[in-house]
Amino acid sequence: MEIAFMLQIWNAGAAIAVILCFILSIAAVKWLLSSYRPIKGLPPGSMGWPLLGETIQFLEPHSATTRGSFMDNHIKRYGNIFKSCLFGHPTIVSADPEFNKFILMNEDKLFQCSYPSNISAILGKWSLLVLVAEEHKRMRSIAVNFLSIPKLRDFFLPDIERHVLLTLGTWKEGQVISAHNESKKFTFNLIAKQIMSFNPGETRTTELMNDYLTFMKGVIAPPLNIPGTAYYRALQSRSKILETVKRVLKERSQQSKGTYNDLLESVTRSGNLSTEQILDVVLNMIFGGYETSTVALTLALKFLADAPAVVEELRVEHEAIRASFTSDRRLTWEDYKKMSFTHCVINETLRLGNVVQFVHRKTLCDVYFKDFLIPKGWKVLPVFSAVHLGTDVYDNPLKFDPWRWQQEKNIYFTPFGGGSRLCAGVDLAKLEMAVFIHHLVLEFEWDVTEPDYPLAFPFVEFEKGLPIQVRRRSS
Ligand code: HEM
Ligand SMILES: *[C@@H]1O[C@H](CO)[C@@H](O)[C@H](O)[C@H]1NC(C)=O
Ligand SMILES: *[C@@H]1O[C@H](CO)[C@@H](O)[C@H](O)[C@H]1NC(C)=O
Ligand SMILES: *[C@@H]1O[C@H](CO)[C@@H](O)[C@H](O)[C@H]1NC(C)=O
Ligand SMILES: *[C@@H]1O[C@H](CO)[C@@H](O)[C@H](O)[C@H]1NC(C)=O
Repeated sequence: MEIAFMLQIWNAGAAIAVILCFILSIAAVKWLLSSYRPIKGLPPGSMGWPLLGETIQFLEPHSATTRGSFMDNHIKRYGNIFKSCLFGHPTIVSADPEFNKFILMNEDKLFQCSYPSNISAILGKWSLLVLVAEEHKRMRSIAVNFLSIPKLRDFFLPDIERHVLLTLGTWKEGQVISAHNESKKFTFNLIAKQIMSFNPGETRTTELMNDYLTFMKGVIAPPLNIPGTAYYRALQSRSKILETVKRVLKERSQQSKGTYNDLLESVTRSGNLSTEQILDVVLNMIFGGYETSTVALTLALKFLADAPAVVEELRVEHEAIRASFTSDRRLTWEDYKKMSFTHCVINETLRLGNVVQFVHRKTLCDVYFKDFLIPKGWKVLPVFSAVHLGTDVYDNPLKFDPWRWQQEKNIYFTPFGGGSRLCAGVDLAKLEMAVFIHHLVLEFEWDVTEPDYPLAFPFVEFEKGLPIQVRRRSS
């Protein structure tokens, strides 16, 4: 007995000694390696399999409200900046708040937008995602002018509210609906109106939506231009949308100017764009605005359904706004400016939901940052979601807590990107969400009937379309 006991102790001691030796030798090797590392070197990381690299692991679907196991594991192992091989290129992935900001602020100087494969064939060579430097600036100004604050105030706000009321008006007491579907309908109808003054329910609106959805599937499909492929169908949809734009332009050429207040009117009035350029601007607006706003709205519905205290505080804010109405009128810009808690909710929704997880860049020259050298021509992916859901910047980052925005003012919050490529629709997206939330919380209560969560594919999707049951509020 005693001997056995002694042996056990001895064994335990030996085991501890072996483990200690092991740890010490790892530490020694690490120390040696670090002291041999050149002063500025490539970030650590693994290049994965030849060609494929780590693309499959990187794109593995994960809940949009988490960083995903790829990012978690790599950050734990290598730190916030690491190298990898993604989409067939040597790539630096960044979850570093300062580096992400640095990348965005040095567009066209040290870094440049660089999307994978040849998207110019499908998005068009005038697409803002394809253009760089001066040409990007010129085409971008068209989008920025169209989406400016005065336009939002005088023209978009009434339109948005009309479309919100139209959408909510179809919700029946006790009905179970797909929140994602409802957001899609609302967003697309609104865009069709803003771009070409198409009305909801018109055949040409439905046709445009179907053409666009087919088109969208081709953007992420392999570029095989053979009948039957998604890519081929997408190119055909692109031509069909071009025909639609041409037809509308022709109709308008026979009408007096100033009849419409939409994107087509504004681009034809403002300049010398070719029809091809106008088409690309139109596609850009739908491409930039449709999926993104749809997902953002659905996320808001989901997070709010799980946070009754937040909905209560929203109701206080919006009831006060409504109480200030002296007549039965529509929302004004002054009302919108009073929605301060709503803006906290919008920011928190975008922080936790991460509609756009990361953007694609490449280096234009050797770039030095902190201890690292990033060689010219490498791809760089600033991963916004990793910063938004990490503890470097936020306390308790996985919690939906709109109140944090009453104190938090940080420059590392980048749901809309930044620098010279800041989302052109940032103010429009927020206005849409705020007006939707206004009528939603005042007129409805809703519950999620089946658990569903946002999956990052990396495009954010709801597997079940987020089914909700809606009830009119009695007050
Ligand atoms: C919540 C909704 C939205 C989110 C999260 C979002 C996010 C983004 C991000 C991250 C970028 C930068 C891409 C890059 O740097 O490579 C971007 C660009 C852009 N977005 Fe949005 N967006 C939203 C809504 C909209 C809307 C409603 C529109 C317009 C109708 C729009 C139009 C654009 C355009 C035109 C660009 C290209 C800007 C440029 O390259 O200069 N977005 N968006
Ligand atoms: C991309 O596509 C465009 C249009 O189809 C073509 O002109 C261009 O050469 C292609 N670029 C590359 C790198 O394949
Ligand atoms: C959402 O819309 C799609 C297409 O219109 C439809 O097939 C699907 O059943 C809808 N989902 C729900 C939950 O209503
Ligand atoms: C439009 O005209 C301006 C000068 O009037 C010119 O600089 C610009 O290149 C033209 N734009 C396009 C897209 O052709
Ligand atoms: C929301 O985030 C933006 C940055 O995108 C910031 O400018 C704004 O102040 C934030 N709003 C609130 C209410 O904190």
